Amino acid sequence: MNRKYKVALLANTLEGNYELPPNAPPDALAELDALKYMEAYAEGIRAAGHEAIFHEGAPQMDVVPWLMDVAPDICFNVCEGFVGESREAHMPAILEMMGLRYSGPTPLAAALTQDKPTTKRVLAYYGLPTPLFQVFTSADDALRADLNYPLFVKPQHEGTGMGIKNESIARNETQLREYVSYVLERYRQPALVESFIEGRDITCGLIGNGDDVHIFPITEVDFSGFPADLAPVYSSVHKNDLDYLYKNKCPAPLGDALSNEVRRLSHQTFLVTGSRDYCRVDFRLTDAGQLYILEINALPGITPRSDLTLMAKVENISHAEMVSMVLKAALKRYRM
Ligand SMILES: Nc1ncnc2c1ncn2[C@@H]1O[C@H](COP(=O)(O)OP(=O)(O)OP(=O)(O)O)[C@@H](O)[C@H]1O
Ligand SMILES: [Mg+2]
Repeated sequence: MNRKYKVALLANTLEGNYELPPNAPPDALAELDALKYMEAYAEGIRAAGHEAIFHEGAPQMDVVPWLMDVAPDICFNVCEGFVGESREAHMPAILEMMGLRYSGPTPLAAALTQDKPTTKRVLAYYGLPTPLFQVFTSADDALRADLNYPLFVKPQHEGTGMGIKNESIARNETQLREYVSYVLERYRQPALVESFIEGRDITCGLIGNGDDVHIFPITEVDFSGFPADLAPVYSSVHKNDLDYLYKNKCPAPLGDALSNEVRRLSHQTFLVTGSRDYCRVDFRLTDAGQLYILEINALPGITPRSDLTLMAKVENISHAEMVSMVLKAALKRYRM
């Protein structure tokens, strides 16, 4: 019989009373979990045959004495973190320091994948396709000569569409400099400027490790249900304020060759970034059939409403089963 493990479920919830830094951007809380989802995660942990005990994650440092007291066999870590450019790496770093086992990315993989330009440099090193780019640390930086309009401007290390708006699409120098200034001021971080890839939004999720991965059906965002004045880029307005209008195509109608290429590139991106247990890789696909990797989410959303959950559902995998697959991938990795 399998052992029943004590699993510490660690998350940052909206109910956790995190104090926002002054002048925080309007979507600063976009990534936090809701307390009501904790029971759904716990159900998945129990579905794998284990015991779940929830605690609010860093930066409330009482998580450290709590973990010492509970002494879990493994942690199911979904902490998005709260402050700082490597916030998803904070909880893994604490767990690593404490010698505890945990699901999801290491501090290195979390910090790497939360930094889009550094991730893109790694992808480029491995010959994986990602849009041409430049990092702006000031609004007056000279634009590199081979970057042509339209361009796309976003914060260097955010997620959940934070800082992505209609204005992210810059069609001329005035628009570019205006939105770069906005990102620098509001998000207090460099702006990533990329070639704007006109095309479809594709995302691909997987669970597992090494070559032993389950790749879910590929998903395409269907922008047709959103207001016409919103540009078809997947922004925090789409992801949060208007998420009730969200529609997708899953499996995405791509044909076999392109689908295989999306799966291959997703798996490669997972491996070269040193991600663990699960991930979701986002792409843009042009009409000419060219795929570009935008980013990897090494700690992808796995709430009952997230993309991974929707992909799993298409395969008749319930939310609880999906959560239990992530935990089992982590347990297997630790040979537990
Ligand atoms: N270079 C680009 N060209 C065209 N569209 C882009 C580009 N970069 C980003 N986008 C659009 O913005 C969306 C969000 O970009 P990205 O995935 O980098 O941000 P994110 O906030 O980290 O996303 P997530 O919610 O997955 O964490 C993409 O899904 C796409 O619609
Ligand atoms: Mg994305």
